[in-house]
Amino acid sequence: MTEPVHPVRVRSIRWEATDVFSFILNAIDDTPLPPFEPGSHIDLQLPIGLMRSYSLSNDGSDGDYRITVARDADSTGGSAFLAEQLRPGAAIAIGAPRNNFPLYEQAPLSVFIAGGIGVTPFVSMAMRLNMLGRRWRLHYCVRTQDRAALLKELEALTLAGSGEIVMNFDQEPGGVMLDLTTVVSSLGPQDHVYCCGPIGMLEAFRKTCEEKTIPDERVHFEYFKSNVQNASEGGYELVLAKSGKTVRVKEGKTILETLLALGLDVPFSCEEGVCGACETRVLAGEPDHRDLILSAEERKSNRTMMICCSGTKSASLTLDI
Ligand code: FES
Repeated sequence: MTEPVHPVRVRSIRWEATDVFSFILNAIDDTPLPPFEPGSHIDLQLPIGLMRSYSLSNDGSDGDYRITVARDADSTGGSAFLAEQLRPGAAIAIGAPRNNFPLYEQAPLSVFIAGGIGVTPFVSMAMRLNMLGRRWRLHYCVRTQDRAALLKELEALTLAGSGEIVMNFDQEPGGVMLDLTTVVSSLGPQDHVYCCGPIGMLEAFRKTCEEKTIPDERVHFEYFKSNVQNASEGGYELVLAKSGKTVRVKEGKTILETLLALGLDVPFSCEEGVCGACETRVLAGEPDHRDLILSAEERKSNRTMMICCSGTKSASLTLDI
């Protein structure tokens, strides 16, 4: 987890759509919570021993944070706990907002592609673009109408600014999957495109952007989960520059697990390369990047790596730890 902010309490919970709930979190001492950038997320340390990351679905201007969570049918505990056990008044530990999905504010048009609960980061982005008087378009894909969380709020944002929403209900009678090729092909030369949703949608989105040769700097994505195997082959040396230690990463272990076993206090959350909590500066060596956050350019530079999931292609790796 990143540096903790104020202890927070669940002020209220709101039903948003089938299996989707919003949780309003405010500081226990009632002071305003720190501001955050559109697209940011927070880590929640759940009392059942799990850490989970959720996008902030408000703009924080009232000093509160809001997360909007879909109860995952295959929940491993996180969303089920939130939906079924977390109640108004409960205290909970959260980390400071972190942003792996920043908004490029100068684009003439920002195109958002949301799959289900992947809509959450786009609320604060649309609010910001409204403030700036910039155009945005949201392609909001949900299976059925009853699952379209935050839709009324987003519709109000279209009226307050220069935004539009194109709904896609793929499981309603006659519904089809969003045609990503058409969406990506319609981008102007300076437009930026963003996608947040299930893995299949994100993979198809990235492939389409590659095929249409949209430059990386105009393509933005955020994953909730990874389908990439963590690097746990081990068999290499880790030099910890700040701690003055050299350790061996054993077969079957990740770098993060090795450091935690040494008793080092290193930040982490998702442990699968999607949240960015464990990003660490690389001082020497060539990482084997397995995360879903760094851009192709960032990977090539090898300046940082996610130590929860990535390994190394070199015999030794020196980290700023
Ligand atoms: S802990 Fe989330 S990216 Fe490493």
